[in-house]
Amino acid sequence: MTANDALTGLFISFEGIDGSGKSTQAHLLADHLRAQGREVVLTREPGGSPGAEEIRALVLQGDPNRWSAETEILLFTAARRDHLERTIRPALAAGKVVICDRFADSTRMYQGLSRGDLRQTVDTLHDLMIGVEPDLTILIDMNPKKGLSRALSRQTAEERFEGFGEVLQTKMRAGFLALAEEFADRFVVIDGGRSVEDVAVDVVQALG
Ligand code: ADP
Ligand code: TYD
Repeated sequence: MTANDALTGLFISFEGIDGSGKSTQAHLLADHLRAQGREVVLTREPGGSPGAEEIRALVLQGDPNRWSAETEILLFTAARRDHLERTIRPALAAGKVVICDRFADSTRMYQGLSRGDLRQTVDTLHDLMIGVEPDLTILIDMNPKKGLSRALSRQTAEERFEGFGEVLQTKMRAGFLALAEEFADRFVVIDGGRSVEDVAVDVVQALG
């Protein structure tokens, strides 16, 4: 039994390395479901509520070593808690589909794996403060070099993690694939190294 059980909507997350096509596919899925008459809330992390968007700037901009790994876990979890309270839970309670561009699996990877093994800390804090998993997680799997070049071509100020380079992206890719096996009941892995249209067909199919 998950903490989602009291909520009537459908909670879908997109995960994958930077530049894998998550936001592109999340938008297309939202359009597809809206065309079918579903009410959809398309949101993202870090962010998705006014308070969490403020935290987003703190964690994504500036020096890559701006925060300790532990502080970073607290900041991402604080943002998620606000997002859950203000955006996700109300939408699910109203029976809407919530499509979230990244969720707790990103913290399990980026904060749990990138600077030593802090996965247990991430999970403990998650159980205490969040306690919700998506009904479906779509992992867009992608070659790290290709993902990074796509991500860097966007040229935004939010490059703290892209700044760690291809080594981190490679580790994250392997970590995400392992996570998909760990949570096989909710993960679907899709090959992101194809055309936008081909990936989108598989995304719709993943909904069953
Ligand atoms: P993410 O949200 O995973 O970082 P985006 O959806 O923002 O990825 O895509 C990163 C960049 O790659 C964008 O410029 C986007 O237009 C482009 N892109 C997304 N999917 C594809 C694809 N299947 N083939 C080629 N380019 C893509
Ligand atoms: P995002 O805007 O999805 O970046 P991208 O489109 O490049 O994939 O996410 C921004 C960055 O935040 C990304 O590098 C991953 C990182 N991140 C974490 O480190 N921990 C988290 O919990 C989340 C949600 C994101």
